[in-house]
Amino acid sequence: MLPKGNFPEKVYLNGKIVSAEDAKISVFDRGFLFGDGIYEVMVQLENGLFYKKAHLDRLQDNLNKIGIQYNVKEIDDNLEVLLKASHLPDQSCLIYIQVTRGVAPRKHSYPKGVPPSVMMYALPYSLPHINPKNMKAILEPDFRWHRCDIKSISLLGNIMANEAAMNATTNEAALVRDGIISEGSHTNIFFVKDGTVITHPANEHILNGITRKIVLKLCSDLDIPIKEKPIAENEIEHMDEAFFTGTTTQVASIVQLGSHTFYKNDEIGKVTRKLQEAFAQLREINTADITL
Ligand code: PDD
Repeated sequence: MLPKGNFPEKVYLNGKIVSAEDAKISVFDRGFLFGDGIYEVMVQLENGLFYKKAHLDRLQDNLNKIGIQYNVKEIDDNLEVLLKASHLPDQSCLIYIQVTRGVAPRKHSYPKGVPPSVMMYALPYSLPHINPKNMKAILEPDFRWHRCDIKSISLLGNIMANEAAMNATTNEAALVRDGIISEGSHTNIFFVKDGTVITHPANEHILNGITRKIVLKLCSDLDIPIKEKPIAENEIEHMDEAFFTGTTTQVASIVQLGSHTFYKNDEIGKVTRKLQEAFAQLREINTADITL
């Protein structure tokens, strides 16, 4: 029996649609034993799966990075099946996808010839046009590994930071590695200084968010200058605006970061607002097949 909570109705598991109750995997699955797998989160909005191709491309790229041999075309072909079985075709929902290296005797090196375990589900989920939250965030040490570009299912560093943020009654934790702000526990972070949008370069210390890429593209469309460079913790107070981005966060203004307060009231920075509005407009088109 599943505990009470927001579980999906149906789960796609290794080629079959099963009820959430029956969605079971072996305790010898390498996802369970080693956290050896990749995940994706995307949403379906009014006009279809939001940047579906970009999410599936990243999933394929991540699977290739860790040598899991799997073609995400199978997931693409089954998304509609899952949505139909979940009574969610054309409805706003969130889709969680996970691919692990599969079931094998516990041995650190990669097993050969083992089929990956593939799981996905959809849950009703709605997103406002503009995230109304003016986020408060704490600063937490980024003690994660050095391959944060891989969307690994091993998220202990991220969940510990997020838990600290919740315990501090804030909305998010911004992670600090060697004095540099890398990203949020489940978001990317941006700053604005003198009209220029600044964000950490897409290297191995951050996940290159799909929303991050969309926002950078919006900046160039809107002639907003961009700098992909790290911002140090001691530079925060010199920044004019800051915002988080992410699939479930969209573009969220940051009112307070660590001990620095950006706005006295419920103000939102000019550039942040412009990007929030431009981002909301993307929902009016079908973005499913756009590559980033
Ligand atoms: N998190 N950085 C980290 C560490 C993340 O976990 C995420 C996404 C992002 C933003 O990526 P995107 O814009 O592609 O969603 C950045 C997802 C939503 C999650 O774990 O639920």
